[in-house]
Amino acid sequence: MKSSASLGEVVGDNIQCGYHGLTFDQDGACIRVPSQKMIPPDACVRPYPVEEKQGFVHVWASDRQPAAGDQPFDFPFAAMEGLNARYAALNGKFDYRLLIDNLMDLTHLGFTHKNTIGTGGVAESGKAKTDREGDRVIVTREMENIAPTHVEVTGYSGNVDHWQIIEFIPPCFISLQVGNAKHGTGGFNADDKDKLINRRTLHIATPETDTTTHYFWVSTYPSDAMTPEQEQTIYDRTLEVLDEDVRMIEGQQTRYDPDFAMIDISEDAGQLAMRATLERLIAEEHA
Ligand SMILES: [Fe+2]
Repeated sequence: MKSSASLGEVVGDNIQCGYHGLTFDQDGACIRVPSQKMIPPDACVRPYPVEEKQGFVHVWASDRQPAAGDQPFDFPFAAMEGLNARYAALNGKFDYRLLIDNLMDLTHLGFTHKNTIGTGGVAESGKAKTDREGDRVIVTREMENIAPTHVEVTGYSGNVDHWQIIEFIPPCFISLQVGNAKHGTGGFNADDKDKLINRRTLHIATPETDTTTHYFWVSTYPSDAMTPEQEQTIYDRTLEVLDEDVRMIEGQQTRYDPDFAMIDISEDAGQLAMRATLERLIAEEHA
């Protein structure tokens, strides 16, 4: 798995290059060249406004200055009392939209993730429903009486009712509610005691170039639902799962040819709605 971490480091309020130690302040000015006294006047970098919120650093990369209404994305679950949050940052060699496609259609669980969390019946059982709320696209899948996931953590090997509520929020956010409850206890509406896995997760597909993407992730759980060891096991498993996705999508990117005709299947409904929304928003911004 490739980390998207920079090779430089933050020293005080400044950023120090990991190569020769050149140090830049918050305005992008070079304030130190360790090997000499004179600082070349052109040694500066472009600064961007940033804001820290709910465990993420949001970077404002536009040419215009942020206005009052330009707030960073709000994911309150990452800073909510009673919930624990775990983060990850990856980088993949693919168009960011392929990552959003992947997250809009979780029927890939039984195939891409067959060695980790994949469980039989996800693709075959249940029907997805696609809704639009303004510019948001929401895919809901409820699967009854299928094989469980995360048995090593939950200790429950009976069949479960599984839910996936996937919300695409333009331009690049995917909020997921995913969980399992013991079969027949109410699924998403089951009592907490019957819920085995219950997570709210945010995935951010930030384009870096046309064919590379930063993949930021945070997952939240009720803090009393698992021991620290169980939480760590789920986190480790999930990093394997994210890596499986990154490798699959990189494979798609290397084979993608815009001249090939695309064939849609019914599970693509959410992705098609997402792509149509994105295209419209991008056209509106360019107009
Ligand atoms: Fe996946």
